[in-house]
Amino acid sequence: MAPAAPIDQDAIGAVASEFGRSTTLPREAYVSEELFSWEAEHLFRRQWTCIGRTGDLVAPGQIRAVVLGDESIVLTRDADGALRAFANVCRHRGHQLLTPGDAVDARLIACPYHSWTYRLDGALRSAPTFGDWAEFDLSEWPLAAVRVADWHGWCFVDRSGEAPELDVQLGNLDEVVRGYEPGRLVTGARHEYEARANWKLLAENYQECYHCPTIHPEFCRISPWDSGIDIEPTGLWCGGTMSLQDGCETMSFDGRSHGVMLPNVPDEWRRQVLYIGVFPNMLLSPHPDYVMTHVLTPLAPDRTLIVCEWLFPPDAVERPEFDASYAVDLWDLTNRQDWTACEGVQRGATSPRFRAGPLGPWEGSLHQFLSMLADAYRGGPVRPPKVPEDGRVHESS
Ligand code: FES
Ligand SMILES: [Fe+2]
Repeated sequence: MAPAAPIDQDAIGAVASEFGRSTTLPREAYVSEELFSWEAEHLFRRQWTCIGRTGDLVAPGQIRAVVLGDESIVLTRDADGALRAFANVCRHRGHQLLTPGDAVDARLIACPYHSWTYRLDGALRSAPTFGDWAEFDLSEWPLAAVRVADWHGWCFVDRSGEAPELDVQLGNLDEVVRGYEPGRLVTGARHEYEARANWKLLAENYQECYHCPTIHPEFCRISPWDSGIDIEPTGLWCGGTMSLQDGCETMSFDGRSHGVMLPNVPDEWRRQVLYIGVFPNMLLSPHPDYVMTHVLTPLAPDRTLIVCEWLFPPDAVERPEFDASYAVDLWDLTNRQDWTACEGVQRGATSPRFRAGPLGPWEGSLHQFLSMLADAYRGGPVRPPKVPEDGRVHESS
């Protein structure tokens, strides 16, 4: 059990109350440094969190160091592609093994201080001059393992080592995305944005389209803002589908796909786009012909890094005339409209007069996201959120 978050627990009770009576988060959720530190330690560290596409982070036979929160880890893949992760700290006297951000082709991890070397499975292979010490046993000094898993081509890490299995955390999300075959898709475009807004404002904004008629006229020409239908989750995620307008094939400025349709998308979703908030910080949007993701990395209470990636089937990307901009341009515009709106809320939250507000009938998925957050803030296990009683729900198959 995590300790309860340093936030007004009565206000969190109101957030967790039944849809129709519940509220948004109190002001401190967006401005408190203390809460930000709690989230780093007890939310992001204790859940499986997506850190990007496995194949882009580390190819077979490579090692790469990445920064996660206040620590660095080394990802390795052996020639067979097996993925592993370790603390980026030498077991001798603790030198960092690899500079964060660097990736190298290597069959061994070599410490730059006294040249201890480790295999890609973390085992200590050599420790110069230690062989002469009768008491020294290489097998007792492996790198500290970090829990890592590949899910449909995305790399997830549980730094606490204590989260339930990733399959348990995600529940039936696997059934939802399976038809899109994300594991075989390749990254066709990647944008990094920095928004001057708390990460939760970005996650909250993604869970509702009530704002779409106001700020996304281009989006609404392709997809009706009020077409959302929720899917009942059995894991820590929320969201559902939205329809495409008549005559539209996908989300693009002209509503047409200039790529290749994904062949195994379930029939009922061939003219739908899915919008899934994978708790806590991944926004997963499968389209009929591409999959878009946003991964949110909190930088400060009022600053968030957003990495947006567009994944396409290899047979689309391999075409000489392929141009990812058909999918990117509408979303880049929509993203910027969204960040501007979230930054406006962040500025509102700087006012001491900011108060939690009510959720309306088109904010049911947002209620689900907030109920997971409320579980975490209370220090308890985070439970799969219930679709509100009067919500629009897909029949479970
Ligand atoms: S600290 Fe790594 S070999 Fe000494
Ligand atoms: Fe939006």
